[in-house]
Amino acid sequence: MAQLCVNIDHVATIRNARGGSEPDPLHAAAICELAGAVGITYHLREDRRHIRDEDAYAFRRIVNGLLNMEMACTDEMVKIALKVKPDQVTLVPEKRAELTTEGGLDVVANADSVEKATRKLTKAGIAVSHFIDASRDQVAAARATGATHVEFHTGIYADHFDRERTLAIREAARIEEMCLYGHDLGLVINAGHGLNYRNVALIARLPYMNELNIGHALVGRAVMVGLDRAVRDMVALCATGSLPVDRPGSF
Ligand code: PXP
Repeated sequence: MAQLCVNIDHVATIRNARGGSEPDPLHAAAICELAGAVGITYHLREDRRHIRDEDAYAFRRIVNGLLNMEMACTDEMVKIALKVKPDQVTLVPEKRAELTTEGGLDVVANADSVEKATRKLTKAGIAVSHFIDASRDQVAAARATGATHVEFHTGIYADHFDRERTLAIREAARIEEMCLYGHDLGLVINAGHGLNYRNVALIARLPYMNELNIGHALVGRAVMVGLDRAVRDMVALCATGSLPVDRPGSF
């Protein structure tokens, strides 16, 4: 089963809605770690719509567990990552107008720039993960361009889970096959996007699944029940496939 990394971006989204300093993503990160998250993930986007540069540096000072920086494969972002020094960088595709990351990074088509960024970051002691669709070509390209980790995009699985379960199951089977292939190539296997309290268990129990990056559903649940409980419930689902025994039937 898998460990939970909380994607903290949406705490910053709420903060930025009123231009002030609350809720503070740093406080949220500390609560997530105390509640059992193995790490904190943030996405420093080109348009700085949620996380800002100063947040990135501040996380480095206060996060004790894994600090995972999602970023586009650009010279600007590589420069910042080399200064911030997160434990891990996850290279993601980025389009200015998108609501959230759409699809995986096309490592096959962008092999030269992805390899250049990956090698630079690796040389600085930062682990590099590629956020990709679960396809054999992309997994092989991630390995060939120097990634030590891959994060499989679970968006299609998540989108279909409540509407067309057979399609979701088929997508999970495709991801499972790529978990086995990636592991055979020596890659550490992570996954994320669109995972929530209903659909996470099936992905958490895929073979060699190491870490799940979960943001929107978790921050949404925190609005209802508090961040501590939202994280504890998701940690339990990732680790065991069920909610904690003292909270059966949590919505
Ligand atoms: N992993 C990656 C690479 C992402 O870009 C995102 C969204 O920022 C997530 C995981 C988390 O997705 P969600 O907010 O849907 O849980």
